[in-house]
Amino acid sequence: MKNAQLGHLLPAIRPQAQLDDAVRLQSLLRDRWIDYPRATQALEQLERLLATPRRERMPCLLLHGDSNIGKTQIIAKFRRGHPDEFDERRGIEMRPIISMQMPPTPEQHRFYSTLLFEIGAPHNAAARLAVLERLARDLLHRMTPSMLIVDEVHHLLAGTYREQRATLNLLKFLANDLRASIVLVGTDDAVIALQSDTQMISRFTPFEMPRWHESEAFRRLLSAFERILPLRRPSDLAQREIVQYVLAASDGLTGEVSRILNAAAELAIRDGNESIKLQHLEQVTPVAIH
Ligand SMILES: Nc1ncnc2c1ncn2[C@@H]1O[C@H](COP(=O)(O)OP(=O)(O)OP(=O)(O)O)[C@@H](O)[C@H]1O
Ligand SMILES: [Mg+2]
Repeated sequence: MKNAQLGHLLPAIRPQAQLDDAVRLQSLLRDRWIDYPRATQALEQLERLLATPRRERMPCLLLHGDSNIGKTQIIAKFRRGHPDEFDERRGIEMRPIISMQMPPTPEQHRFYSTLLFEIGAPHNAAARLAVLERLARDLLHRMTPSMLIVDEVHHLLAGTYREQRATLNLLKFLANDLRASIVLVGTDDAVIALQSDTQMISRFTPFEMPRWHESEAFRRLLSAFERILPLRRPSDLAQREIVQYVLAASDGLTGEVSRILNAAAELAIRDGNESIKLQHLEQVTPVAIH
């Protein structure tokens, strides 16, 4: 098939559409980044935070939204834009951004252990809290991060009230000590966890990732998927029937939109249609939606 017939795809994707079925099916499993307005806004907000000159009370951000909406992908994209650097003169690694996940139970000891693991610092996990704390602080001071990102922050709620307080205090302490911005990421439960601390909530600007609704932005999202799925024929995913079907079947969650379209593309490759039809979508969604 000639490239000229693949005008529905991004130029970079056109060669992929000509590959064997097996290779194309494999490529569907890969994570791909698609821009959409709310994600761009979130990334811009993160950039602004990172560019804030160091001061006593650094601004902080709380990125929240339903599970599978795309929060972690935004953080990953942001990190790719700011790789670590090696300071030859001082012989140490400079990390503008450090990101980690809140451990499933938010004890301080596990928090420091996870943080040390993230910054690549070997340590004895059985060491006392004070030792881990000291080690983490020393290393962080040398790496001079401008931002600390903690994902899955709703895990705070899995802790006892005391553990929650202690971990929030730890975060506050780190932010002040390093004069770094803190970005907390999690589901809406994360907001509840933070609300127990008025000092904390006043410091964090909330940024919500809402579910999709029928809009021009959602049609554009589907069109963007169409341009990168390696199918040889146009599917016209922005047509009303498909838009409404995908919206209902996905509950407006980006991750579900992606799963449904990838699964439908797989069927369209296997059955030789090379274009996503409503019947493919119906086959990959558990309950028929009409
Ligand atoms: N910008 C994007 N481009 C393409 N696919 C995306 C994008 N954002 C999210 N996705 C898809 O949605 C899935 C879920 O995204 P992500 O893991 O970021 O959700 P989350 O909000 O962090 O969920 P959780 O709260 O459960 O951790 C991803 O695995 C990916 O398939
Ligand atoms: Mg996540």
